[in-house]
Amino acid sequence: MRRRQAGRAVTTDSLQGLCTLVTGGAQGIGFAAAAECARRGAAIAVLDMNPQAAERAAGALAERFGVATCWASANVAEGPMAKGAIDACVQRLGHIDVLVNCAGIMTPRLAAVADMPVDDVQQMFDVHVRGAFLCSQAVIPGMASRGFGRIINISSVLGVLGLPFRSGYAIAKHAINGFTKSLAVEVARQGITVNAVAPGYILTETLQRRLDDGLLDYALYADRAPAGRWGLPEEVGHVIAFLALPASGFITGTVIPVDGGYTMRGDPGEAIGAAGAVEGLRAVRARFDDLEEGRG
Ligand SMILES: NC(=O)c1ccc[n+]([C@@H]2O[C@H](COP(=O)([O-])OP(=O)(O)OC[C@H]3O[C@@H](n4cnc5c(N)ncnc54)[C@H](O)[C@@H]3O)[C@@H](O)[C@H]2O)c1
Repeated sequence: MRRRQAGRAVTTDSLQGLCTLVTGGAQGIGFAAAAECARRGAAIAVLDMNPQAAERAAGALAERFGVATCWASANVAEGPMAKGAIDACVQRLGHIDVLVNCAGIMTPRLAAVADMPVDDVQQMFDVHVRGAFLCSQAVIPGMASRGFGRIINISSVLGVLGLPFRSGYAIAKHAINGFTKSLAVEVARQGITVNAVAPGYILTETLQRRLDDGLLDYALYADRAPAGRWGLPEEVGHVIAFLALPASGFITGTVIPVDGGYTMRGDPGEAIGAAGAVEGLRAVRARFDDLEEGRG
């Protein structure tokens, strides 16, 4: 929908004039979220532990979408380092209106609780929960002073389901959901919304490598999802950008599954037809390529 503001046409799906900071934005879901926000006109700050990849991502987004970008390198779980990096991004871009807490790691090793080193659990908690908490802490005062903010956390199907041998990840992602809801209540009257997206199996570069190495089975998880396939990072980025919009201001405290129905499915025993092969994702990717080509 088009309307006029200060003499220029803006749309309710525009992020022009806003700045999005994405932790873990150098690749995977974080990069896709940054790209979708940039496509809608937002300036982008990429914060990632990998400085080379962060710089590359910020450069690629500036070139592709013609928006202002910057990058910073930090471990989100280290308070002063994360705050310093976020402050540097504020210096470069003026303000942070949207924070996407996407930095994350995979379960280092699958193990029963009886055998799992508690340090693995702590590491999961630190990156996902401590990181999201610290980065939120760093941006909330600025958002509150401008009366506008969007915080989007990344949960998982393991934030709502139980699966064996992944306790650390499940603890972290369930905690993200609780943090999302309690923070949402706390800051709602300052114009800040807080939501989470809970992706199912998403074909990022990292998971593609695991498929190539035979550590994951595409068919197994595609079959469990009623959609009969995995998702793409762009499909998660699309929901994140939607939550970032000013027009999405009445949505807060939610955990939105982006999982092809994985978590809502009851008994997976009923026959509902065959799942697709990984090649079927090409047609899904083409939807996003068409969007790029149609960009005016
Ligand atoms: N890929 C999936 O199927 C899937 C499913 C559900 C949830 N998720 C969640 O989505 C998020 C992104 O996952 P992805 O698959 O895109 O991962 P990815 O491995 O492709 O990218 C993660 C990025 O985060 C960065 N990072 C890791 N630890 C960091 C830290 N401590 N500080 C700063 N940056 C750090 C990495 O350098 C990397 O660029 C994670 O929270 C993950 O748990 C992913």
